[in-house]
Amino acid sequence: MDQITLIVKAIPENESFVRSTIAAYAVRKNPDIQIINDIKTAVSEAVTNSIVHAYNDDKEKEIHINARLSDDSLIISVIDFGIGIADIEKMTSGLFTSKPELEHSGLGFTIMRAFMDELEIASDENVGTTITMTKRLI
Ligand SMILES: Nc1ncnc2c1ncn2[C@@H]1O[C@H](COP(=O)(O)OP(=O)(O)OP(=O)(O)O)[C@@H](O)[C@H]1O
Ligand SMILES: [Mg+2]
Repeated sequence: MDQITLIVKAIPENESFVRSTIAAYAVRKNPDIQIINDIKTAVSEAVTNSIVHAYNDDKEKEIHINARLSDDSLIISVIDFGIGIADIEKMTSGLFTSKPELEHSGLGFTIMRAFMDELEIASDENVGTTITMTKRLI
């Protein structure tokens, strides 16, 4: 399957870089603009979570992003090697945030679920987190 991998430092500037790069990759399949916008929004949420939560804004850490194009879908994995998610059910089912003081409202996973067709979360405490999302392009 056709695929690309990006390895970026966990800095806010890379959130927009990754979002735009993945969008440019998906455009190869000529999807509707709305589909591209949905992908951009979901990728932003996942990358931001790695920066803010997994790494607590430690800018030296790395995020890996893998994107694959199948005949009709884009599959994206956002991978970090940070603190991990202790209780996946509780922390990802909506409106849970560990950082309310930083104006996080716990909407990231709800947005990823709403904007993408599939969302898978794999995480181990102090090992890291892999978020895999699939979006149909046609
Ligand atoms: N990559 C990650 N590593 C470790 N913990 C994470 C990761 N992503 C999310 N979390 C945990 O899951 C919680 C919920 O994430 P979610 O994106 O839904 O909300 P948020 O980031 O707190 O708020 P918002 O996305 O609305 O700014 C986070 O508060 C954090 O505790
Ligand atoms: Mg978030």
